Amino acid sequence: MKTQVAIIGAGPAGMFLAHMLRRANIDAVVLERRDRDYVEGRVRAGVLEQIAVDVMRDLDLAGRLDKEGLVHGGTNLSLDGELFHIDMEKLTGGKTVTVYGQQEVMHDLFEAAGERGVDIIWNAGDVSLHGLDGDNPVVRFVQNGEAKELQCDFVAGCDGFHGVSRPSIPTHVLKEFERVYPFGWLGLLADVPPANDELIYANHERGFALASMRSPTRSRYYIQCGLDEKVEDWSDERFWDELCLRLGPVAGAKVTRGPSFEKSIAPLRSFVSEPMRWGRLFLAGDAAHIVPPTGAKGLNLAVSDVVYLCEGLVEYYKNGSNSGIDHYSARALARVWKAERFSWWFTSITHRFPNMDGFDRRIQMAELDYIRGSENAQRVLAENYVGLPLK
Ligand code: APR
Ligand code: PHB
Repeated sequence: MKTQVAIIGAGPAGMFLAHMLRRANIDAVVLERRDRDYVEGRVRAGVLEQIAVDVMRDLDLAGRLDKEGLVHGGTNLSLDGELFHIDMEKLTGGKTVTVYGQQEVMHDLFEAAGERGVDIIWNAGDVSLHGLDGDNPVVRFVQNGEAKELQCDFVAGCDGFHGVSRPSIPTHVLKEFERVYPFGWLGLLADVPPANDELIYANHERGFALASMRSPTRSRYYIQCGLDEKVEDWSDERFWDELCLRLGPVAGAKVTRGPSFEKSIAPLRSFVSEPMRWGRLFLAGDAAHIVPPTGAKGLNLAVSDVVYLCEGLVEYYKNGSNSGIDHYSARALARVWKAERFSWWFTSITHRFPNMDGFDRRIQMAELDYIRGSENAQRVLAENYVGLPLK
């Protein structure tokens, strides 16, 4: 088998790239270790920056998004139950975010893949990358028990944090930067109307809570929890009680309770590996970087990475220029690090850290109070939250 770009992983990074390349008439094959149901079934964040919405529209994939996505011009912070509003739209000259679950994004990407000839090989086992430092890379994998080879010009490593792409780069080349947070998020999905028409990020003495949503009838809530906690120990009732406490009496009173249909704990991590290119391998999305979910930058960063990568590959194939692919890593990392900074900062001002003393807590309270009272501080938050420009 032969193609121009072998894409490893059919998550958001891999699938957006596959659609972009298809539209540019560049051949690509996506190799995915799991099946479609598994990839589409994973519950992840659900806030799209304008850039991601624009990419969906540009690819003619936004039919459902434009109908069902919830456009949010603002968001809310809460300190010990006292809520304040950030008018992002006003502060950023009209920018908004759109609430549309990653599962819906994946559904739209997969549905259109068939019609448009985006080539995906599901259940590709034992994927390994070879010849990345030469001109003719080869991807080996197993399909239905049979060993296969895919020859290509380039490999796009879109296989997430635990994939094979990043480890294919020699260790003396890679630099890795990491913060692991001493807590996780316990998330719950329930078919109940959301507590509020916009999101609420709550800092409470007992820990962080987030009120989010998927639709006018489906809510997504999170509470900060210890890393050693077990989902089984959190009955729905216990979750609702703790959530309402942390949201405070006003927002908490607007929470509609109901049976959950998904509950899980996710750890929080900040991670960046540099460079994002080695020879003919490009890393994109979670393969190269992880953000804590505070601010919902994960999917959005995957999109901006592959926008840069696709531009580089188009320049290479259409104009015979290496400039775009040569600048890919530096360009992507410049945006990645700013989103890392924002996600780390937003996490640090909203969560309860185990060794926090009175001083740390008062600094957090002062920071939130400062944001509440300063339009300048709100603008800084808003411009990062809606997404920094691509250039
Ligand atoms: N071979 C083939 N596919 C693989 C391999 C492998 N060895 N390892 C992992 N994969 C697949 C996974 O099964 C997954 O479907 O790569 C895909 C990677 O997808 P994500 O982990 O979603 O990563 P990415 O596309 O970069 O998306 C980034 O989306 O899922 C969120 O939390 C994530 O917000 C982040 C964003
Ligand atoms: C979500 O709805 O899942 C969500 C929203 C905002 C975040 C993180 C997750 O910051």
